[in-house]
Amino acid sequence: MVEMTDPRVIVALDFAEAAQALTLVERLDPAQCRLKVGKELFTRSGPALVEALQGKGFDVFLDLKFHDIPNTVAKACKAAAELGVWMVNVHALGGKKMMEAAREAIASATHRPRLIAVTVLTSMGDADLAEIGLQGSPEDNVRRLARLAESAGLDGVVCSPREVDMLRNTLGADFQLVTPGVRPAGAALNDQTRVATPEDAIRMGSSYLVIGRPITQASDPLAALTAINQGILPLLPH
Ligand code: C5P
Repeated sequence: MVEMTDPRVIVALDFAEAAQALTLVERLDPAQCRLKVGKELFTRSGPALVEALQGKGFDVFLDLKFHDIPNTVAKACKAAAELGVWMVNVHALGGKKMMEAAREAIASATHRPRLIAVTVLTSMGDADLAEIGLQGSPEDNVRRLARLAESAGLDGVVCSPREVDMLRNTLGADFQLVTPGVRPAGAALNDQTRVATPEDAIRMGSSYLVIGRPITQASDPLAALTAINQGILPLLPH
């Protein structure tokens, strides 16, 4: 049993149906992980599922990547705060005013969620950025948008483990870096290409690790999660 006051693993619940998510969650432990609910699951199962997960003691990262006019995003973030989620996110490309409105909307919430930004989607390469009129490399854009998120008072960004080093040197020490693309040594890559191990991601300065299939598809999900935690626990500040 690994005891953690601030579990660093966020398990991505990439399931089509609430029942599948709940079956998996029965096999996990809220002392060892948090949960990420994304667009597919939320669109199908909605706030009721988030409440059910929270009722089982899990913190929820609501990964809906809001991107709209400031007023609309602010109200969506307020609704997420009222739902009681632990983390919520927006697209930095919505601009500084949008991010500030989101931050202000949740500032007085009883349980203020952490508010983080997506910078550049990792599915976008140089040609995709040029096509939408963004100059510079994906890395340049990630750095610029992460700084913008920090200046808007957000708590962190989602980024690739390969960007952690660069962002840690650019942003404040408390700025949270939430990284998907994590694979324990020897685990199947699935469709991820540029991955880091949990230990390397934490060593480089990642704050939270978003991990899906290496846990959700494991024959013993709790054992897979425990093994990851045992690897990173000695690397965390005490
Ligand atoms: O199963 P796997 O560990 O690859 O799941 C990673 C999760 O992180 C998925 O929910 C995926 O959508 C998300 N994600 C990602 N890469 C990004 C942003 C989010 O893999 N750049």
